[in-house]
Amino acid sequence: MSVYQATASAPVNIACIKYWGKRDTKLILPTNSSLSVTLDQDHLRSTTTSRADASFKKDRLWLNDTEEEIKEGGRLATCISEMKRLRREVEEKDASQPKLSSYYVHICSRNNFPTAAGLASSASGFAALVASLAALYKLPASPSELSLIARQGSGSACRSLFGGFVAWQMGSLPDGSDSLAVEVAPQSHWPDIHALICVVSDDKKGTSSTSGMQRTVETSTLLQHRIAHVVPARMEAISAAIQARDFDAFARITMQDSNQFHAVALDTDPPIFYMNDVSRAIIALIVEYNRVSVANGGKLKAAYTYDAGPNAVIYAPKENIKEIVELIVKYFPQPEAFKDPFGLFGAAGVGEG
Ligand code: ADP
Ligand code: DP6
Ligand code: CO
Repeated sequence: MSVYQATASAPVNIACIKYWGKRDTKLILPTNSSLSVTLDQDHLRSTTTSRADASFKKDRLWLNDTEEEIKEGGRLATCISEMKRLRREVEEKDASQPKLSSYYVHICSRNNFPTAAGLASSASGFAALVASLAALYKLPASPSELSLIARQGSGSACRSLFGGFVAWQMGSLPDGSDSLAVEVAPQSHWPDIHALICVVSDDKKGTSSTSGMQRTVETSTLLQHRIAHVVPARMEAISAAIQARDFDAFARITMQDSNQFHAVALDTDPPIFYMNDVSRAIIALIVEYNRVSVANGGKLKAAYTYDAGPNAVIYAPKENIKEIVELIVKYFPQPEAFKDPFGLFGAAGVGEG
């Protein structure tokens, strides 16, 4: 008897140009394009196993060992049924294929980092879900095609199907068929950029991305200015900065866009506060670090960005990471040790947390 099972994993991505706002909440079509960097280390990942079996009585999903309800018409149900539709196309073309599209699936997923804490678990989670079903169903689909389905699970998930620098093109068609992720540049184009994750809090956030952005769309006038007059030029400029490996321009745009996203959250009624005092103190530290560099005739050395939570992501060229970690550890003494995937601190360093 055959066992039909496949496992896939996907990393989180952290946006430099933020997605915040939907023009279609069911299809998850955004009000602006966005651009992110997919992390390539193993610290922030979702790993998902999917199994199809004739004996299963319904589709079921366990997230971090707890069963989640798959609501009819909800995001999980949509992703699963869209993947079954693609499997049916395979079965229709090749009658020798087992009819897996008619079986229910059991899906088991784990995140190796805090879920729903503003560290993009919905991005890695839905990307891993779609990737595991694509492997189970042996689909010929490209990452961009799969991104159309991951997008309907969580918007940011569409970008995690690619590594490196990724754009989610907002598209204009009402059916969403042109709202997909494309590669801007592979990670190998600019391997010198590193991301440092500063976990300020791993608590579940108070306002989910989904409800927060909907409230912003309904109440913020600043969002309307942002989507019409700010983001299109920023998408162009940051893509050019990536192509040119121009860290100074990349950093400037990334910090401006993080600031505007949080300004838009504040412009929402009632206002949404994702950053806290520690987040703001980290901003002040990076601003001062860059100011000193520029005052000495140098360039920007680091860029902060914050998603819908208080945790900082700092992008910087590899040569600056050690100095930045030393600054962070000096001003924010940590009870928990720093994870050092690059061995920057050697055996006697801050150590693996
Ligand atoms: P985050 O900032 O972590 O992305 P969100 O509020 O956007 O927070 O989304 C969190 C939700 O994403 C979770 O409550 C869960 O429904 C879904 N999610 C997270 N991880 C996974 C996963 N591995 N598989 C399926 N769904 C997931
Ligand atoms: C601030 O993709 O989590 O991280 O589409 O409703 O699931 P849903 O929201 P989600 O929103 C992410 C918002 C962000 C910015 C970004 O990742 O671009
Ligand atoms: Co999310």
